[in-house]
Amino acid sequence: MGLLENQFTELPLETSHLSFALEHWKSVVGEGDWIIDATCGRGRDTLKLANLLSPKGSLIGIDIQIEALKETQKLLQDSLSAEQLERVHLFQQSHAQFPLIAHEKSIALIVYNLGYLPQGDKSLTTMKESTLQSIGQAMELIRQGGLISITCYPGHVEGKIEQDALILMAKGLPHQSWDIHFYRKINSETAPSVLFIKKSLNPALFSRTV
Ligand SMILES: C[S@@+](CC[C@H](N)C(=O)[O-])C[C@H]1O[C@@H](n2cnc3c(N)ncnc32)[C@H](O)[C@@H]1O
Repeated sequence: MGLLENQFTELPLETSHLSFALEHWKSVVGEGDWIIDATCGRGRDTLKLANLLSPKGSLIGIDIQIEALKETQKLLQDSLSAEQLERVHLFQQSHAQFPLIAHEKSIALIVYNLGYLPQGDKSLTTMKESTLQSIGQAMELIRQGGLISITCYPGHVEGKIEQDALILMAKGLPHQSWDIHFYRKINSETAPSVLFIKKSLNPALFSRTV
């Protein structure tokens, strides 16, 4: 059971995609779990995610841009305790390959906020091929009962291509192994969307962790 599972509240219909995603993030992170933020950007999601960690949990943050990681680091330094900061590991690289350390941990949550850095260089956007490659790896890494949360922005060309490719891939996954939900305002073609890919829970693991 996630540490904050019983705090999941009913959300109003007009809840923003990010608040909606946050409620789901809270529900899966348990004692000692690790989290990956696969697109740190300016660090706003990274900060929310770091605050979900239990005292033994850690976070891996990834972005291709040094500018993004510097901003993330500053936001975390201004907002977290020294002890919390020690459990955040930032990597400047593409999420197409996860850092080796991720392969040795119990990863409960992997978060993507696709697209480009707001007010940054729009050409440095996430791209369909590397996003799909990364999500293939994320599906291997995520522990049973864990969640991959992907926010897409179909209002720009590459964002729409990514969203369509992700939906196509997700629709083909077996429902016995993956619980998949897509959240989006349907009367706006450009509204952001969130795709949740949750790995089914192994009953043996579940009985060990509750
Ligand atoms: C929409 S922003 C993320 C916003 C961020 N989560 C926040 O809360 O501020 C998308 C980020 O993805 C990064 N990015 C683009 N391609 C990437 C890749 N292949 N691997 C890792 N990060 C990438 C961009 O540099 C950008 O900072």
